[in-house]
Amino acid sequence: MQIEPNKILIIGARSKVAEALIRHFLSLTDWKLILLSSGFTSTVQVDRITCYPYDYNQSQHLTKIIQNTLPTFTINCAAVTDVDSCEIDRKKTWNINVNLVETIARICKITGSHFIHFSTDYVFDGAKGPYFETDIPNPISYYGKSKLASENVCLTSDVISTIIRTTVVYGSSSYSHSDFVDWVIKQLKKNIPFRVVTDQISNPTLTDDIAFTLIRIIDLHKKGIFNIAGFNWLSRFEFAQLIAQIFELDESLIQPILTSELSQKAKRPLKGGLLTLKAETELGVKFSTAEEGLRILKDQQINKLYQNLM
Ligand SMILES: NC(=O)c1ccc[n+]([C@@H]2O[C@H](COP(=O)([O-])OP(=O)(O)OC[C@H]3O[C@@H](n4cnc5c(N)ncnc54)[C@H](OP(=O)(O)O)[C@@H]3O)[C@@H](O)[C@H]2O)c1
Repeated sequence: MQIEPNKILIIGARSKVAEALIRHFLSLTDWKLILLSSGFTSTVQVDRITCYPYDYNQSQHLTKIIQNTLPTFTINCAAVTDVDSCEIDRKKTWNINVNLVETIARICKITGSHFIHFSTDYVFDGAKGPYFETDIPNPISYYGKSKLASENVCLTSDVISTIIRTTVVYGSSSYSHSDFVDWVIKQLKKNIPFRVVTDQISNPTLTDDIAFTLIRIIDLHKKGIFNIAGFNWLSRFEFAQLIAQIFELDESLIQPILTSELSQKAKRPLKGGLLTLKAETELGVKFSTAEEGLRILKDQQINKLYQNLM
C-alpha cells in the first residue's frame, strides 16, 4: 500500500519562520503544502502548493479550508510579534495571538489534524534564563502573556499539539519582516554610531534550524513543548559585534547601553533564552552557533545577489 504524503497547512505563510519552513519542506520532503496568508490576493495552485488568501477576521473561512483540505499537520506562524505595539493594541494582539489559536485548535480537534504552534522565551520573566521546557512561565509583557495564553489553549483543548518555543529569530526573507540582524546591518551601513543593549541575553536562532527541526518533529509525530534555539547564549551587544565581524562592517559603531536607559513600551526578559537538550536528545538535531548561522545567512544573501545579476 502506498502511503500518502503529509498534507501541511501553514497559517501566516508570509511570516519569517514560515518562509524557511516552505523552502525546506519543498526541497527536503514530498509533502503537499496548503498556505494561508493575508498577503495572497487569489487562490493559486502550483504543483505541491495551494495558496489561499486569508482574512484574519473571518474564522469561518479557516474552518472551511481545514475541513475541505484535511491537513495532517496544521502549523500556525501567524502572530503579532512587535512586542512594543502589543502593549498598545491589546485587542488586536489578543485576537491574533490567542483567539485565532483557539479557533485553529477547535477545528484541528474535530478534523484530527496535528496542531503545531509557535511560542517564545518571552513567556518567561528573564530572571534566571536560559530556560528548560519544564520551567514555570511568568510573562512580563502583553506579548508574553498572549503567547502563554496561546500555549495554554493548545495544552488544554485536547487537540494533538506541539508547541515550539524559539527566540530572537533571524534568517533570509523575501518580505519586509526585519529582524535584529537586518536592523544591525542597516545601522552599520549608515556609518553612524548606534546603541545596543548589553543586558538582554538569549540564543539567536536561524530560521533554517527551525525548519530542519520541524521536519524531525513531523516525521516523529512529536507532541508537547520543544525549545528550538541557537547554540550560543549571548547579549544583543555581543551578537551585534559578531554581525559586524561576519559582514565585515565597522564594529566600533556599536555602543553599549542598558535596557533601563531605553524607554521601551514593553518590558523585556533580561536573562532569556532557551535550553535545547530535549530537542537534541529526542530529535537528534544540533543547532548552529551564532557564527555558523550568520555565515549561512551571508552566503544566502551573496547567492541571491548573484542570482539577481544573472
Ligand atoms: N521573530 C522572533 O524573533 C520570534 C521569537 C520567538 C517566537 N516567535 C514566534 O514565531 C512565530 C513566527 O514569528 P515570525 O517572526 O516569523 O513572524 P512575523 O515574520 O512577524 O510574521 C507574523 C505573521 O503573522 C500574520 N499576522 C496576522 N495578523 C497580523 C498582525 N495584525 N500583525 C502582524 N502579523 C500578522 C502575518 O502573516 P501573513 O502575512 O502570511 O498573513 C505575518 O506575516 C510567531 O508565533 C512568533 O510569536 C518569533
